[in-house]
Amino acid sequence: MSAVSLSCRVCGTEHPLDVVGTCAQCFGPLDPTYDWETLRLTVTRDRIASGPSSIWRYADLLPVEAPAEARLAPGLTPLVPAPRLAAELGVAELWLKLDTANPTHSFKDRVVAVAARKAQEAGLETLSCSSTGNLAGAVAARAAAEGMSAAVFCPADLEPEKLAAAAVYGPTIYAVDGTYDHCSRLSVELSFELDWGFVNVNLRSYYAEGSKTIAYELAEQLGWTLPDVVAIPIASGALYHKVGQGFGELLALGLVDGTPPRLVGGQAEGCAPVATAFRDEQAVAPMRPDTVARSLAIGSPADGDFAVATARHTGGAIHAVPETEIGENMAWLAQTTGVFGETATGVTLGALHAAVEAGEVERDARVVLLVTGDGLKTPQAVAHTFTPVHIAADADAFVDGLVVA
Ligand SMILES: Cc1ncc(COP(=O)(O)O)c(C=O)c1O
Ligand SMILES: [Zn+2]
Repeated sequence: MSAVSLSCRVCGTEHPLDVVGTCAQCFGPLDPTYDWETLRLTVTRDRIASGPSSIWRYADLLPVEAPAEARLAPGLTPLVPAPRLAAELGVAELWLKLDTANPTHSFKDRVVAVAARKAQEAGLETLSCSSTGNLAGAVAARAAAEGMSAAVFCPADLEPEKLAAAAVYGPTIYAVDGTYDHCSRLSVELSFELDWGFVNVNLRSYYAEGSKTIAYELAEQLGWTLPDVVAIPIASGALYHKVGQGFGELLALGLVDGTPPRLVGGQAEGCAPVATAFRDEQAVAPMRPDTVARSLAIGSPADGDFAVATARHTGGAIHAVPETEIGENMAWLAQTTGVFGETATGVTLGALHAAVEAGEVERDARVVLLVTGDGLKTPQAVAHTFTPVHIAADADAFVDGLVVA
């Protein structure tokens, strides 16, 4: 394995590759560091191409060993062109990254696969998390696949489809009377008491690295070239920040040439602490979420300030999308591409649209939109599209009716 330590993103203090959430000196987040000199010599396009058809083809760039037997492996999800939506948006080329094709229909399977691997290496038997919905399902399914126990903490009022999609795998679901931020605080406190692997607390350094694989896949699937713009939803900000990091690593390794893609971030207006911080050029200020995009409803985002920094140094932007547009955007995507993304995707498309309108995306740009979660888990947001025409089972009457219409 090429990871050598954990390094504090704030003060740079080095820590061993343990199950540990934050820097012992300053409580900052910890990122794995790698032996880049060796990796520059050993990681080649051919070596990656000869690997498994999953995130584990990039194991050299992850902080855990690839599993000997990869069960339910996520990644290498389809990248499909969306010419009709590109034309309506006014961009030359648009691609959709369908992370709905992962085992539990969201990108969270990537991050959980890496965190669970570390939990196993450390001999932990219970996987846990605080979740806005998708992570609970990913943790529960991974635990089921690996024969581990799962305990997840979710706001009690999440979408019933999301809770059911986690419950079926047999975890203990703790429905918390409060917001995601209450669940998160609770799981941080419990991580000091229990010998559990909390994927987004004491395994967070490993978990977050899983998101880099989206950047690796985009470059590989585009024939080892970089897109100009990638549109990404933001909750904690980890996905957005780590995708930016992933592109930087590919450039540093010489696997691609060019300039890092500009990252367009999306938040829902009812929970936009990162978009607000970007707009006002201030630090992220926590707020109480009130949004239809429940998967993005994090009022106190752990990586919010790092996401703002990523937006600045990639020349990107972060937009807040009006609540009323989220369901409309889900329908717009579905009706122009045949892809049903969840509320988070309605937000991502809204942010991309805003960026195009603001002139932040050139008309000749090659753009990727991340579809990070499945619309079947958030059907209420598009209930307005269900307007069936009630008819009798009578062909003559039907044809007459069509003529009249
Ligand atoms: C579907 C979906 N997209 C995007 C995100 C954002 O991820 P992050 O918390 O890494 O910003 C989430 C987080 O729960 C999600 O469920
Ligand atoms: Zn530190």
